[in-house]
Amino acid sequence: METVLVAGATGYAGRHLAAALHAGGYRVRAVVRDVERARGPGAYGAPALAGLVDEWVEADVARVGPGVMEGVERVVSALGVTRQKADPWDIDYAANLRLLELAEAAGAASFLYVGVMNAQDGTSALMRAKAAFEQALRRSDLEAQIVNPSAYFSDLTAVLDLARRRIAVRVGAGDTRIRPIHGADLAGFCVDRMGARGTWDVGGPDVFTYREVVELAFDALGADPRWIVVPPGVLRAGVWAADRMGPRVSSLTRFFAEGLQHDGVGAATGTRRLRDYFGELAGPGGG
Ligand SMILES: NC(=O)c1ccc[n+]([C@@H]2O[C@H](COP(=O)([O-])OP(=O)(O)OC[C@H]3O[C@@H](n4cnc5c(N)ncnc54)[C@H](OP(=O)(O)O)[C@@H]3O)[C@@H](O)[C@H]2O)c1
Repeated sequence: METVLVAGATGYAGRHLAAALHAGGYRVRAVVRDVERARGPGAYGAPALAGLVDEWVEADVARVGPGVMEGVERVVSALGVTRQKADPWDIDYAANLRLLELAEAAGAASFLYVGVMNAQDGTSALMRAKAAFEQALRRSDLEAQIVNPSAYFSDLTAVLDLARRRIAVRVGAGDTRIRPIHGADLAGFCVDRMGARGTWDVGGPDVFTYREVVELAFDALGADPRWIVVPPGVLRAGVWAADRMGPRVSSLTRFFAEGLQHDGVGAATGTRRLRDYFGELAGPGGG
């Protein structure tokens, strides 16, 4: 039985990865900040880690020592800053790089990284940090798997939340395309790639424009969207203002502004559909 070290195990993607690895017969070692929180269920329906993790390492992932890799054959990282107040250069780049270097020194076989699509084109600190780690991983002698997913169902829950408040926003025509993916489908895809070497842009079974995602959310609630249309020029002005409000605001604004304007589709995988996810969240009466 191979031991896989999972970083970012308490996140949406990380919890589904731990579940898929456990189901796939791997021994799961998870690095987490708080074991008690990790044992319980995650947000957006992501699984509780109790029963899925064989060995806990309670530590600051940015400061782990070589012992964390003892007996580890593979590393899987979904470690990254999303809502956390941290600098992406410290986590997405430096903490992942530290894990990579420890894995290399310990003679591990592979390192699978859950990144993000279009990282090399992004101008936010988040995208730059992720792109820099991807490059370091590509240069490693370890068997590198880089999986860049489209938008997670978890993130698109915000669209349904806005629809509940009858808010429908789009940038311009809203015709940027994405392929939303459920965490379990992403995790299944990743586990199937263990042992291969490569980079994959991946999404769920359906392609939608952002406009269609909003329409899907309103549909689930049995309501009609009344649109607030943000001209792309206003978004540019928002980025200009955000750049003057500090690095965190600037990075997040650039990340979302660019994400709303660049297609992020990738290859299709999985069976879970956004329509069903929104339908379950909305409930039988449409919320
Ligand atoms: N959400 C999307 O739509 C989407 C799409 C494509 C790619 N991605 C990428 O996929 C990865 C996983 O996303 P996700 O939605 O699963 O994120 P998430 O739920 O926020 O999980 C992120 C993980 O990283 C850990 N982490 C973050 N900051 C940390 C810090 N300062 N110190 C220690 N641990 C820290 C979190 O630990 P705690 O639980 O302790 O905070 C958590 O385990 C990210 O790199 C993200 O950019 C996301």
